[in-house]
Amino acid sequence: MEEDNLGSVKQQVAKLFEVSLKAIVPDESNVEPLVAACTGKFGDYQCNNAMSLWSRIKGKKTEFRGPPSIGQALMKNLPQSEMIESCSVAGPGFVNVVLSTEWIAKSIQKMLTNGIGTWAPKLKVKIAVVDFSSPNIAKEMHVGHLRSTIIGDTLARMLEFSNVEVLRRNHVGDWGTQFGMLIEFLFEEFPNWEDAGGQAVGDLQAFYKASKQRFDADPVFKERAQQAVVRLQGGEEKYRAAWAQICDISRQEFHQVYKRLGVRLEEKGESFYNPYIPGVLEALSNQGLIEESEGARVIFIEGKNIPLIVVKSDGGYNYASTDLAALWYRLNEEKAEWIIYITDVGQSLHFEMFFSAAKRAGWLPADDNLYPKVSHVGFGLVLGDDGKRFRTRSSEVVRLVDLLDEAKNRSKAVLIERGKAAEWTSEELEQTAEAVGYGAVKYADLKNNRLTNYTFNYDQMLNDKGNTAVYLLYAHARICSIVRKSAKDIEELKKKGSISLDHPDERVLGLHLMQFAEVVEEACTNLLPNVLCEYLYNLSENFTRFYSNCQVVGSPEETSRLLLCEATAVVMRKCFHLLGITPVYKI
Ligand code: ARG
Repeated sequence: MEEDNLGSVKQQVAKLFEVSLKAIVPDESNVEPLVAACTGKFGDYQCNNAMSLWSRIKGKKTEFRGPPSIGQALMKNLPQSEMIESCSVAGPGFVNVVLSTEWIAKSIQKMLTNGIGTWAPKLKVKIAVVDFSSPNIAKEMHVGHLRSTIIGDTLARMLEFSNVEVLRRNHVGDWGTQFGMLIEFLFEEFPNWEDAGGQAVGDLQAFYKASKQRFDADPVFKERAQQAVVRLQGGEEKYRAAWAQICDISRQEFHQVYKRLGVRLEEKGESFYNPYIPGVLEALSNQGLIEESEGARVIFIEGKNIPLIVVKSDGGYNYASTDLAALWYRLNEEKAEWIIYITDVGQSLHFEMFFSAAKRAGWLPADDNLYPKVSHVGFGLVLGDDGKRFRTRSSEVVRLVDLLDEAKNRSKAVLIERGKAAEWTSEELEQTAEAVGYGAVKYADLKNNRLTNYTFNYDQMLNDKGNTAVYLLYAHARICSIVRKSAKDIEELKKKGSISLDHPDERVLGLHLMQFAEVVEEACTNLLPNVLCEYLYNLSENFTRFYSNCQVVGSPEETSRLLLCEATAVVMRKCFHLLGITPVYKI
């Protein structure tokens, strides 16, 4: 499989220009080929090196008279390749490349035989941590955590597809002073908590609220709660057991959400890193990074007015100390080369500061383009129709399980209205309703640039027109039904038939298919799932144009066109898979 993978089209074109660059400016080092896809009428790809190269060499002795002559030379020195149909130089030395239509057709056919895995992008890292979802024990898991879960899962899937080993980490907030209060309240309210095995507490959020009230109202209780934290952190058996029970209740609730979303995560909560904190801080202290400030121990960061607090004035550790220890662990124990954190943009400053601290400590290179690397993937708010933070009507925080159930139920109602209850087995109905409902929620989130706020609206996301999961899932199902209804054995066609892309709309669709790898690569390197959504939506549009202008079944080109349909369905399915959406095959 690996040797079939030559990298994305963009990478392959870039490789050709690399050869050409070496030939025309052999003495210049580090000249990266600058290649981009283009949609102009002059070509499919463009090489943009001429201008910057000219400003580098114009002072030196050179045979070139300006960017256009560099462009000409770049073109003339391109190695022979079956992928290129023709080239031309435009304006100030841009080299336009028209790909060979035959090569596109052949490449698609090869993918159909060898699998879409041969179109996986090639990335520079082997091991990555994706730190996502990460709700807090006993507090609500809110829509912000839902966004983190959806975005993180997609990024993990894209990296996994690119053959990166991904450590999917749920950095749950399972350690902190709130546990003293919760444990004491548990002892007080449910003296036989040990036998009840978590049944006693019931709704953990209500339990949290009640214990907080008790904490604020009664100084004696507060004192006991503070003692409980010390005893818990000291490892006292009974306190540990109570803590574990409380964590377990939350965990079961989180699991309900992950199960519905089909998200796999490995929990390594804040408590896991706690034992590493003293050693890590000592090392930083020995490097002279940690200073005393107003009773706390802090790290000063250049360009920031406030320092990063790593030991609070009461001697306790905090979010930052845990994150430093976790980063140390990920770099040194897990050998991760890229560590990606997914939280709302509200936490940007925290990440910026602790990343800077890690750079000061020499854990990370100062240059952000080098590895090991850390990235904070921030995202905006989820808004309700009123433009305010998304809440239920009674202005309570939305329970995520309810939100997902609602999406499923609404999509089920639509399917029933369309008469599917009579047509399908109840299992099919259930599965399709889930695929569409959960898919709609995920896609509505992912299609926007993650930094922008977006409005949560069931009617919009479940609309079967426009840029929605429903529209795309239906489009895929329709393609499957074209292939099914042709009554041709597609496996046979793959072996015996061949693709040709004679009609312009066939070529546009074919080229778009070929660009799958570079789009996934871009979505990965820039950590932007919306790039893949946009690709998927355009794929569907290109297919529609092809299908309305090119007869498939019963035409002389039937075999080629059925193969093109199949290739489109394969790529669409991979997109769905990467977005965490379950495809449907009939509607
Ligand atoms: N538990 C945190 C929250 O709910 C998110 C943790 C993100 N991960 C991290 N390593 N800080 O806001």
